[in-house]
Amino acid sequence: MKQRIVSGMRPTGKLHFGHYLGVIQNWVNLQDEYDCNFFVADWHALTTKYDNTEELRQNVLDVAMDWLACGIDPNKSTIYVQSLVPEIAELNIYLAMCTPQNWVERDPTLKDMVKILDKKEATNSQISYGLLGYPVLMSADIMMLNAQVVPVGIDQVAHIEITRDIARRFNNIYGKQYFNEPQPKLTQVPLFCGLDGNKMGKSNNNDIKISDDEKTTEKKLMRAITDRTRIKKDDLGHPDLCEVVYKYWEIFGDAQTVSTVNCECKAGQRGCADCKRALAKVINEKFAPIREKRRYYEEHISEVEDILREGSNKAREEAKKVLADVRELVRMY
Ligand code: TRP
Ligand code: SF4
Repeated sequence: MKQRIVSGMRPTGKLHFGHYLGVIQNWVNLQDEYDCNFFVADWHALTTKYDNTEELRQNVLDVAMDWLACGIDPNKSTIYVQSLVPEIAELNIYLAMCTPQNWVERDPTLKDMVKILDKKEATNSQISYGLLGYPVLMSADIMMLNAQVVPVGIDQVAHIEITRDIARRFNNIYGKQYFNEPQPKLTQVPLFCGLDGNKMGKSNNNDIKISDDEKTTEKKLMRAITDRTRIKKDDLGHPDLCEVVYKYWEIFGDAQTVSTVNCECKAGQRGCADCKRALAKVINEKFAPIREKRRYYEEHISEVEDILREGSNKAREEAKKVLADVRELVRMY
């Protein structure tokens, strides 16, 4: 029996290289070894953007298309939409009832989120009841399929800890070791920053999207920061001070090329503009098949919708079994 994985992403729109390297690539590699279940967390999007849902549906599709293009395979993994599995909402209720208030109030990830919200305009800075329940809803996502393993980034580990606590507490209260205490599965990902050297993110306007075309990719790379001590093309360069372009080379280039870049840069035999153009070419070649596949899905949206609907129905079948057990354990009517 394969171990079961559940993981999700909020529908923030088209995904970028940070998502690809940090999350999606990892998911793709887990598909043979585990029973994988990947979902778009559209309810979680509402925890902060309940008053701005115009793009929500398109964002769900964009995330799904990026996953499919990158190799998340609906024949191997169950791909679904959180809100199309309403059983999660019912489980959320049972879990919410047995989660102590101070567990959610202490959630460090929530505190970070509140800080970010506080910087934005007053309309959005109110913390809703739903946002406070973020980690409980996340626990419901995971426990709905009684997953054992949750591949996430380091920023989500605190949430998995709460999930383990909630699972243990539920089991104790209702007298049965029913739920697994899921393990976070962290992957070592290369530190990958945005074009300006800060964390890559949509709102930082420093990202390259998986779905960007070749021209856009090159244009964006041309404005990436390099070794700032270099002014003229034949100044001696410092690859270790070139935190963006050289780092990208290390991630996307083969060993031979990286060492050439390193030597030529140090010797002042390599202009930064040429270096970036060469990098753009390498990156564009790597992403060509992914981007082609994405364009296919963009032109066949109904296929994407079918995949999501079928995946959601499949997830529901499992969810219904768990929910029936839970209702029995809690002694609902
Ligand atoms: N909170 C996660 C994030 O922002 C997304 C998420 C929602 C999730 N539910 C989940 C991840 C369940 C793993 C398991 O990245
Ligand atoms: Fe960076 Fe390349 Fe310029 Fe060297 S030549 S500083 S590696 S962009």
